[in-house]
Amino acid sequence: MLISFEKVWKTYGRGEARVDALAGVDFTIDRGEFVAIMGPSGSGKSTAMNIIGCLDTPTSGRYGFLGVDAGRLDRGRRAILRNLYIGFVFQGYNLLPRTTAVENVELPLIYRGVQARERRELAMRALAQVGLAGREHHTPAELSGGQQQRVAIARAIVSTPTLLVADEPTGNLDTQRSHEIMDLLTGLNRDIGLSIVMVTHEPDIAAYADRTIGFLDGHIAYDQAKAEAA
Ligand SMILES: Nc1ncnc2c1ncn2[C@@H]1O[C@H](COP(=O)(O)OP(=O)(O)O)[C@@H](O)[C@H]1O
Ligand SMILES: [Mg+2]
Repeated sequence: MLISFEKVWKTYGRGEARVDALAGVDFTIDRGEFVAIMGPSGSGKSTAMNIIGCLDTPTSGRYGFLGVDAGRLDRGRRAILRNLYIGFVFQGYNLLPRTTAVENVELPLIYRGVQARERRELAMRALAQVGLAGREHHTPAELSGGQQQRVAIARAIVSTPTLLVADEPTGNLDTQRSHEIMDLLTGLNRDIGLSIVMVTHEPDIAAYADRTIGFLDGHIAYDQAKAEAA
């Protein structure tokens, strides 16, 4: 088991201002799964993603990640878990400007203490994996949105994480580019067994996942496996 939520609550504020962003949520995700998370604005998706990515901890209940009680780890230990096991992709790419694609992809390896020559080699390989061979020395401003998101995906997978956490990865892209990015993510899930948890608002994007969990008011409204094509 990769992820387990057991009666997870996340409460912000107190008294009149109290908000239960998550109100006793239970689910598990196995290694190798590709899960979409859907739900209206304010339903608790980002709160759940922050816990899944070990960026935040539950107010109560248990968050298990790879068998570790990650919700009870301090900031520093959660940072180590993230560094070793989790890659992140965001709607807005979050690349360093005026910094080439290959240098952006090398960043997580610098934090890991990988030496320069090996860093460059691994980053070049990751860029080839996302279809950006030949674009390694372009800066974000010299790349399209779809290409920038590919750089961000390369940066997320260069340290061979177990889990990819993607928050609306196609939210800034047109339809064609969105489907290309989803083909890339589906391929990574299938070919290297990368586990993926992805938030999306679009049903046709969620349809790429094997399973969709729907949030509503801090609860799970549905949890559905993809219907197999006949
Ligand atoms: N840092 C915070 N402080 C106070 N309330 C918050 C905070 N983060 C989220 N919330 C509240 O928790 C609820 C769930 O938010 P969120 O997880 O961001 O939903 P979603 O990502 O589905 O839009 C919302 O009512 C939101 O206003
Ligand atoms: Mg959100």
